[in-house]
Amino acid sequence: MSHKILLLSGDGIGREVVAEAEQVLLAVAKDEIEIDHALIGGVAIDTCGEPLPAATATAAAAADAVLLGAVGAPQYDHLPNAQKPEKGLLQLRKAMGVFANLRPAICYAELVDASTLKPEYVRDLDILIVRELLGDVYFGEPRELQTTNGVRRAVNTMCYDENEIARVARHGFEAARRRQKRLCSVEKANVLEVGMLWREVVSAIGQEEYPDIELSHLYVDNAAMQLVRAPKQFDVIVTGNIFGDILSDAAAMLTGSIGMLPSASLNESGGGLYEPVHGSAPDIAGEDKANPLATILSVAMLLRYSLNLPQAAAHVERAVQQTLADGYRTADIAAPGAAVVSCSAMGAAVRERLTAV
Ligand code: IPM
Ligand code: MG
Repeated sequence: MSHKILLLSGDGIGREVVAEAEQVLLAVAKDEIEIDHALIGGVAIDTCGEPLPAATATAAAAADAVLLGAVGAPQYDHLPNAQKPEKGLLQLRKAMGVFANLRPAICYAELVDASTLKPEYVRDLDILIVRELLGDVYFGEPRELQTTNGVRRAVNTMCYDENEIARVARHGFEAARRRQKRLCSVEKANVLEVGMLWREVVSAIGQEEYPDIELSHLYVDNAAMQLVRAPKQFDVIVTGNIFGDILSDAAAMLTGSIGMLPSASLNESGGGLYEPVHGSAPDIAGEDKANPLATILSVAMLLRYSLNLPQAAAHVERAVQQTLADGYRTADIAAPGAAVVSCSAMGAAVRERLTAV
């Protein structure tokens, strides 16, 4: 059966990392996929006048999975929010209905020294953050920027209904069941009504449907502290959109570099949007310096979750591990003074090891 995969390179290093990931995808699943390309982000603004052109939304709806690079560049910073490249990504997530964003943070043995934390705190670290992706202050109404009597005022709204909380909570519980059976739910119930509802809903689901999972609750400020104090206490974390955005960047640094972190965003029907957690890195864009491993590992998640090809996924993950074991390092994960390889050389090294495993 042929699966339709849509590639959206986007901006900055997105183009470089997706080009490497595309070659990896072809190397492991050429006979089972059809690849299409479309525009999103700043490059779509320049070409079509909007960050998510209708043709891209249509192609995404028809695809079995979408692989995205990154969006955003400084030349669009002055635009109103509704016209920025990032808006294209948010609209795409909404259009695809991808409410469950899985962000694994794994510290590879080979990269223990790339973390800014002491090795004993991150060795064997394996955390999964399940971030709700379609609600919260990202999409809540009202939202506005207004001027009254010469004073500018901005409003965003944090809101969740219990169904939105429940469906992402179940993703968290299910993931915990496949792992260490521990789920930590993160909110701000001591201050926010949204947090109180979140805690109630997650607790009830835990008691009624997942008595085998050890459920804990943390306020987000404490969770941030615990994440850098003793990260290995966590197995799966489930949280809302904005807290998940912040905590997943913090978790990324535990692993050495945000350039290592893949993500999968899933909807009710198994369709998914796959992206590296990092951004478009305009400072190094076009220089062939970016780390393509987060996007290559996102390909592994795509193979596993949307194409149901777990062996091909494991094949890619093993090749990445072997590439690291063989000493290949892009600048973001290299020890000071150590030799570094380019984005394209890293991609090629992974592909060589694909054929070898
Ligand atoms: C992420 C990014 C996005 C987000 C931006 C680019 C809109 O930071 O995927 O974590 O805030 O969700
Ligand atoms: Mg982010």
